[in-house]
Amino acid sequence: MKRVEGVAKVTGRARYAAEFELPNLAYGYLCESSVGRGRIASLDVSAAESAPGVLKVISHLNLRDLLPQPENQEKKEGVGFSAFRSPEIFFNGQPIALVVAETFEQARAASLLIRAKYEEDRPETDITKKLETARPTNPDKAPPERGNFGKAFKDAPVKVEAEYHIPVEHHNPIEPHGATAFWKDGKLRVFDKTQNVHQLRDYLAGLFKIPAEDVEITALFVGGAFGSCLAVHYYTPLVVLAAREAGRPVRLSYTRRQMFNGHGYRPDTWQRISLAAGAEGRLTALSHRVVVNTSRYSDYSEDFAVVARLVYACPNVKTLFQNVVTDLQTPAPMRAPGAVSQMFALECAMDELSYALRIDPLELRLINYAEKDPETGKPYSSKALRECYRLGAEKFGWKDRKPEPRSMTRDGMLVGWGVATGVWPALQMKASAAITLHADGTANVRSATTDIGPGTYTVMTIIAAEHLGIEASKVKFELGESKFPKSPAQGGSWTTASVGSAIHGAAEKIKSRLLDLAKKQEGSPLADAGVSQVAMLDGRLHLSSDVSKGVAISELMEANDLKEISETHEATPSPERDKYTCYAHGAQFVEVLVDPDLGTVKVSRVIEVTACGKIMSPTTSHSQEIGGVVWGIGMALQEATEIDHRYGRIMNASLADYHVPVNADVHQIETIFVEEDDRIVNPLGVKGMGELGLVGIPAAIANAVYHATGIRVRDLPITPDKLI
Ligand code: MOS
Repeated sequence: MKRVEGVAKVTGRARYAAEFELPNLAYGYLCESSVGRGRIASLDVSAAESAPGVLKVISHLNLRDLLPQPENQEKKEGVGFSAFRSPEIFFNGQPIALVVAETFEQARAASLLIRAKYEEDRPETDITKKLETARPTNPDKAPPERGNFGKAFKDAPVKVEAEYHIPVEHHNPIEPHGATAFWKDGKLRVFDKTQNVHQLRDYLAGLFKIPAEDVEITALFVGGAFGSCLAVHYYTPLVVLAAREAGRPVRLSYTRRQMFNGHGYRPDTWQRISLAAGAEGRLTALSHRVVVNTSRYSDYSEDFAVVARLVYACPNVKTLFQNVVTDLQTPAPMRAPGAVSQMFALECAMDELSYALRIDPLELRLINYAEKDPETGKPYSSKALRECYRLGAEKFGWKDRKPEPRSMTRDGMLVGWGVATGVWPALQMKASAAITLHADGTANVRSATTDIGPGTYTVMTIIAAEHLGIEASKVKFELGESKFPKSPAQGGSWTTASVGSAIHGAAEKIKSRLLDLAKKQEGSPLADAGVSQVAMLDGRLHLSSDVSKGVAISELMEANDLKEISETHEATPSPERDKYTCYAHGAQFVEVLVDPDLGTVKVSRVIEVTACGKIMSPTTSHSQEIGGVVWGIGMALQEATEIDHRYGRIMNASLADYHVPVNADVHQIETIFVEEDDRIVNPLGVKGMGELGLVGIPAAIANAVYHATGIRVRDLPITPDKLI
């Protein structure tokens, strides 16, 4: 099935947050700090206030009169930086004033009239210069050492130790963050670019001290997010406040440059891995230290992912997570957070170990294959990773790989083949959905999730159609409204498992109600049937074992004077999951061609094989995995946020200067799914896969580059200067 919202998107009918046209709309424009650390000594907004068209200027000077709140930053989960709470400057580009005017141009022009004087301190933004200040994150929750790393490492015959670095990277969704808000009769309506409408509703209700029922959030379409809209960011409360002060609707949208200071980023990540193995290749010791930067006002860590403890069978493992305070915004989750960064280090280190052992890198992974969860000893609910390796190797032609670096060439290019593994937890969150089945055989399905691009509109339509036994064209699935049944953020690749399970549960309830009605009919062929013995298909409720024994649903509803049946279901993860480790896995095989003179790298061929339970929507699922590969090309070869450490200022804050892959960088990509029949993970048997598609790619590319050139680049991105 193709994307149900595809036509709306390509014809412009799909409305994004800053596109809702409202009468009497005013516009906001953000003014930013030009220093990276210090305090605003004085702020003169008078010229801006009297500029043409200006309705209001909001800054730390008047925020607390307009909206009482504490001076310090909130350290709440799900809340990013809050603007104007104090004159303190935490990062360069921090918002210092919001101008609201009749037109966007007037707001922007007036913002140039604002004069700020600063007491300036020297910002520190270079993590590598501050590594000695690293402090453990969440030390109380840190898992203890497994076995005895020190002894095992000392005794091992073959060892590898290496440091890896990933620079700050920014989410760059095509739709900039923005919101349109208005108040009516004390009630608030907000159109926002958000991954989480309920969280935003509750936050705004608390901040503006109104009942949550009086706040309505809408996010019908989100033009890419990748984690950048998981938290509430400063612009949304500001737009809401501005709308209240102006007494009319206000719209605010980040400029492309503001996208680099508005919502966090993937942290600067410094890692050290020590690996040891016996001569036959079995891992005996593994230690992994991960240091990320954070801000001065809140902590950030990626210790929610601890890949060193779970990917390979290894008896002695030590992990350490630390952060370093910098004068930058607090980082945020960004596409496959934690997992992709840590797997870059681990999967490169495994590759390095394979050369030290003179064992094929794929073979090394098979030798250390974890048959059960190495950390807990629990079985996997399903794990077809071995099949992913086998199938990928076969399709790729891995057996023809010559082991020596620089040993393969084609048309004057150095050819490199690399492999890596991907992992991502099969998460399920509490989620609800409502279904209304009409007597005419159509259905409305609703849930307050969002669709940031992966195809949620489509997959939920498919799931509802399947479990109601009707054509997908008869299902209307709606999302993105806070008035719909509560769902978690779209994030963590958990949406299909979570919201899909809720839809499945609601459909089951409808089936159960129909069965109750059917049983009351005289001579009902379903009189003795239990709910698990019947199915809905093509407008009939019938015995699963005998299609001929059943009733027409429309007749059943008519006979009972029902125009529709509605059911809401909240799906929670089954306790059965606790007995298992639920993960999705993948194997990535990459070919690169490296120009020996120029050092340019072309990712000429990628085979990505993924095992993530059942595939509900093949088209959008393949798109997710292709997207993961493309992102991995960017991460491996191009992406880096360049910071001028003298000023703590981001130098490449635009899509012209911040490089991401374009079509010319993307060549042959084949994505394959190995379906797993997993009855444990959730009733649908689905696992998340959007983020998984990225996880092993940067390492596989780096490993392929080493194989091509003999140069091990441990500092991303792998730019040509590092290869010549
Ligand atoms: Mo994703 S980083 O969970 O939006």
